[in-house]
Amino acid sequence: MTRTEAEQRIAQLSEQINHHNFLYYQESNPEISDFEFDQLLEELIRLENQFPDLLKSDSPSQRVGGTITKNFKTVEHKTKMLSLGNTYTIEELIDFDERVEKGLGRKDFEYFCEMKFDGVAISLVYENGTLARAVTRGDGYKGDDVTENVKTIRNIPLTVKGPGIPENFEVRGEIFLSHSEFQKINQQREENGEALLANPRNAASGTLKMQDSSIVAKRRLNCYFYELLGVDSVQTHEEAIHLIEKWGFNVSPTYRKTNSIQDVIQYIEDWREKRFTLPLDTDGVVLKVNSYNQREELGFTAKNPRWAIAYKYKAESAETELLSITYQVGRTGAITPVANLSPVSLAGTTVKRASLHNANEIERLGLFEGDFVHVEKGGEIIPKITGVNESLRKPEAKPISYITHCPECGTLLERKESEAKHYCPNASECPPQILGRIEHFVSKRAMDIDSMGTERIRALIDQEFISNPADIYDLEEKKAELLGLEMSHDQYELEGEGLLYISVEKALFALTEQLSFKQIQDFLSENVALPLNDTLRAFQEQIRKWKKKVPSNTGMVDYLIASLKDHQLPKLEDYVPVAVVLEIFLGRKVDFDTILEASKNEGTVHGILLKLNLELSDQLTERIKKLKANTFQEGVVKNIMEGIAASKKQPFEKVLFGIGIRNIGENTAQLLANHFGSIDKLKEASSEELLEINGIGEILVTSIHDFFAQPENLKIIDRLKTHGLNLEISEKESTILGNALAGKRILASGKLNHFKRDEIIDTVKAHGGQYISSVSKNLDFIIEGEEMGPSKKEKAQKLGVPLISEEEFLKMINGDSQ
Ligand code: IVH
Repeated sequence: MTRTEAEQRIAQLSEQINHHNFLYYQESNPEISDFEFDQLLEELIRLENQFPDLLKSDSPSQRVGGTITKNFKTVEHKTKMLSLGNTYTIEELIDFDERVEKGLGRKDFEYFCEMKFDGVAISLVYENGTLARAVTRGDGYKGDDVTENVKTIRNIPLTVKGPGIPENFEVRGEIFLSHSEFQKINQQREENGEALLANPRNAASGTLKMQDSSIVAKRRLNCYFYELLGVDSVQTHEEAIHLIEKWGFNVSPTYRKTNSIQDVIQYIEDWREKRFTLPLDTDGVVLKVNSYNQREELGFTAKNPRWAIAYKYKAESAETELLSITYQVGRTGAITPVANLSPVSLAGTTVKRASLHNANEIERLGLFEGDFVHVEKGGEIIPKITGVNESLRKPEAKPISYITHCPECGTLLERKESEAKHYCPNASECPPQILGRIEHFVSKRAMDIDSMGTERIRALIDQEFISNPADIYDLEEKKAELLGLEMSHDQYELEGEGLLYISVEKALFALTEQLSFKQIQDFLSENVALPLNDTLRAFQEQIRKWKKKVPSNTGMVDYLIASLKDHQLPKLEDYVPVAVVLEIFLGRKVDFDTILEASKNEGTVHGILLKLNLELSDQLTERIKKLKANTFQEGVVKNIMEGIAASKKQPFEKVLFGIGIRNIGENTAQLLANHFGSIDKLKEASSEELLEINGIGEILVTSIHDFFAQPENLKIIDRLKTHGLNLEISEKESTILGNALAGKRILASGKLNHFKRDEIIDTVKAHGGQYISSVSKNLDFIIEGEEMGPSKKEKAQKLGVPLISEEEFLKMINGDSQ
């Protein structure tokens, strides 16, 4: 490699490593494995060694020993954190048992069985009964000190005191995120337009290494403990487990003490499928010799203890036919292909679908239409396709060709070079994207209109009442139109000419009295094979058997049969034209052609009735109501209206978060609202101005500029303003604590120990100061927190702005209470 080539490669590697570091540490969402990351780093170090003059002071390699890999202090474990040998078959387990028996020279020993939890190993050291250190496994000898983050885990005891509890001891266990927490986090990330986390294990390990422990606290990590060290009086593992349970440590109740390897095998079988009902992923079973004396006798190999081993469940696999691929459009426009499979039984559940992630995955698997595929259920909850049985491929089968257009709105899909997923760029008109944006806007953390649930929003979008946040406020004028609006479309179908059809069951339900919808559904499901006319005749027979309003109910079905015959409209299986049913109800008021015309290109009965603009008697309204799906009732509309009115009082930062500028989460919205004070000032902000704010980077600047560059967004903002929403900060009645900072312009940078970001802003204001978010010569001073960015520091020094420590700041405000 020439020097120039090396120079280019070093620049490229540095950029890549910085990018992956950002994803890993800031976003906790690594795109590559640790191994791949290490390879990049090793290549960089190799090149820099080869060409020492190309080594830059800011090269990521310079941070290998410290900040890059971990910003946490490295701490040595008093006792090495061992790993376990693995077995995959019962034979291997029996071999292990024989080795133990030989080692001990006796048969009568016990095993303690536990599940093997798929999380992150942790060691907690208690000194004088207080949690002194929480350290990750690291390389087994030394790990990262993550005490501050671990302290946020609610069920980890911070102190353990009482009679019989030793002053100093160590417990070890596995930190994890439960499936439900993991789903919650991903749901929220999806709402915020952020990339999803891959699996609970990665999410737990990313969370544990986050810089801000207040975010860790929100994530609700959990921990199961399975080891106690440093307590001499304990003689068996069973005693240890019972003790730590008693001291308040969380122990999974899945353990079992056994007397023989046969019982261990039974334990393994008992949990093979049941483990999928546990709140976390498990990938096997750990069996440990119970007696500590016996453990000592057995000792260790170079790597593992001779007294414990893991049995790993092989991911269960099955072969089944690929029926089709459906493409789902997410709320951010991301496309996810899903394989629809011929149902197959796997690990206790019937599998019908498997996620395919993206186009690369389909290509990697080399999928053809109608292929027989292997599906596996491993640690993940959703089964995955792991391979194809090519020998069963039909000769005429074609490779799967990925869609080019959005399945929801037909727009040409896009794919950015650096991203694996395809996206639908039609953010403002693509229905699932509209739904996602509106759900986000009305969500608790934004405008908090809780009367607008997903189904109601969907109905309002489908029936073209809303397509953006501003439309919500126009609903106040359309209150009357909302009454009776349908909330589900499943029962309708549009025919080629645009005629609206309704399911036969719904039609029969509306036409009859005293019959439940379920009764009708059950009847129809037993008579699916008959042609419609025969079904209707059989239904009349059934009415006679049920003895429910026989003359009028059978009479209505007669009308239906006759009307269908008269009008000879195109036939749709299991559906009848809405116009035909409406004619039976409205025939005396409106002629059929008018009804037919009104039913064209309408999606609901409600819509047709609006077009016909009729005065209906209560009796008729009641009957027609049965023809509709779930509808908006008076109470619902009232709640929605109240929610909409109340939302206008939400503060600016909530509105800013709600309008859904990409990558702007709650904290950033708060930061921007505080800094700029109004949407107009934010709109005008230059890149430089934005970048100077602590916490705003290039990605956010692009998102903000992209958002304001779109004229439709500006229109929406104008309309929100007209509707009276807070698009500027209203001077909060802030608490006044004193005036020690009167007239001072202050910025805090880096991590503070006594204040969160909003708290420092409030504190400065409460003492009469003004908080400024960027470094400028107008500042009176900067509070220098830990790890203040070097460029900011340099700039402050150049501008001659004094830096003071957090302690000095505390001294300034202490004793300043009025
Ligand atoms: S005992 C020598 N028990 O598996 C004993 N480990 O390969 C070492 N693990 O680093 C640990 N569940 O992270 C033990 N019930 C359990 C476990 C468990 C999961 C993990 C742990 C350890 C790795 C060993």
